[in-house]
Amino acid sequence: MYVCLCFGISDKKIIRLTQQNKVSDIRSIREITSLGSQCGKCIRQAKNIIEETIAIS
Ligand code: FES
Repeated sequence: MYVCLCFGISDKKIIRLTQQNKVSDIRSIREITSLGSQCGKCIRQAKNIIEETIAIS
């Protein structure tokens, strides 16, 4: 499922980057993928996915 339509970033990609410790918050995923830097509608959902992935790992 796409979370960020503007940049074509899926929930799977966000989970994978988080599990690989490449991202830990919105700021770090934005630096790598640009997620959230256009319309911004994806930020809340992406934040939840990152936090849930960290919580269960
Ligand atoms: Fe992510 Fe627009 S959906 S910036």
